[in-house]
Amino acid sequence: MPIGRVLLTQAQIRKRVRELGHSLNRHYRGQQPIIIGVMNGALFFLADLLRAIDLGDAEISCLRLASYAGKKRTGQIRGLDALDQSVAGRPVLIVDDILDTGQTLVALVKRLKKLGASEIKTCVLLEKRRPRKVSHKPDWVGFRIANEFVVGYGLDYNSRYRTLRQIRVL
Ligand code: IMP
Ligand code: MG
Repeated sequence: MPIGRVLLTQAQIRKRVRELGHSLNRHYRGQQPIIIGVMNGALFFLADLLRAIDLGDAEISCLRLASYAGKKRTGQIRGLDALDQSVAGRPVLIVDDILDTGQTLVALVKRLKKLGASEIKTCVLLEKRRPRKVSHKPDWVGFRIANEFVVGYGLDYNSRYRTLRQIRVL
């Protein structure tokens, strides 16, 4: 499948990530959040965001969640069992690449609540404009985009195109 037009350039992404970093700094000043990056999609976003924030006491944790095989959704979120009680009583920031149906974040937030996190916030680079069966309102959003399948900057199609520097429509 050929990749299509550039939706977001490296410069646009870099600028927006810096802005999100400033906002996160303000919110988490003086706190010790656990930052959970949802792998593999959030790989680049998480790394760039961490360079844009200044929270010496943040703890980083990566969680590997999957709901897709190719462009098809498998229906369930795999990988949530990796979470444990260590989040109890702590503020948690979830960092993900894209909010699509919302299933992933809703399931993750639910699990973190059950494990007793004191505050759960979400930061996504992209949010697709589309109707959703489950609703989730992210606390920080990089860009709101049309309901198209996108790749690059961590986002893949069957493990391909993840390392593209820009975000492109497939
Ligand atoms: P959800 O539908 O909100 O649960 O999104 C689940 C996951 O699907 C996201 O974290 C992405 O990893 C992946 N995903 C959703 N839309 C796209 C896309 O347009 N391109 C690549 N991955 C996507
Ligand atoms: Mg993902």
